[in-house]
Amino acid sequence: MSTATENPVVQNGIPRIGDAAPNFTAVTTVGSLNFYDFKKDKYTILFSHPADFTPVCTTELIEFAREKEFFAARNTNLIGVSIDSIHSHVAWVQNVREKTGVYLDFPIVADLDTKVAQLYGLIHPGESQTATVRAVFVIDPKNVIRAIIYYPLNIGRNLDEIKRVIEALQTADKHSVALPANWRPGDKVIVPPPKTLVEVEERLANATYEKVDFYLSKKELS
Ligand code: BEZ
Repeated sequence: MSTATENPVVQNGIPRIGDAAPNFTAVTTVGSLNFYDFKKDKYTILFSHPADFTPVCTTELIEFAREKEFFAARNTNLIGVSIDSIHSHVAWVQNVREKTGVYLDFPIVADLDTKVAQLYGLIHPGESQTATVRAVFVIDPKNVIRAIIYYPLNIGRNLDEIKRVIEALQTADKHSVALPANWRPGDKVIVPPPKTLVEVEERLANATYEKVDFYLSKKELS
């Protein structure tokens, strides 16, 4: 895993997987914060939404809030971002609580000057010149961006997939394995492919692996 350097030069204004997550200070619904201080030693999901008081965004933020305990149990912070004022954010959070009983108590950045949107490449002009797309940045405890997912303005995100990515990344980090398509906790994992001829022989001789061939073997996590 690479080591993060704060605010690296990013290509085309969009940080990529493996880059350091850009740091920032911002006004949020829980007060002003420094991003690195907020996320300290935790996995963090930074997600943007196009606008407050809009239907799809409301359903998404409610789902993030409903999964609060899932993320907390996995050492993962949540932080939202949109180009709305802090007054709009606060009124929206109050409204959602009043109408649905769900409290959006994770920080939501009021990015009126688009500072965070520019640092993370959240405005995709072909989709909207003024609103942030539905982006999800999964950032690890060393501040390295590990996964990025984008959705357009008219499609709400899938929280099951975001939760799966967190569990998959943490499993991959802990056990130095890769994970197959549609992996879920409890499924077999992929043993990294052998890099030498000796390792190929060892792989072929291993009776405990589920082997399709020497380059594709799975094992149970012990
Ligand atoms: C929505 O959240 O419903 C939405 C927001 C911006 C553009 C389109 C839809």
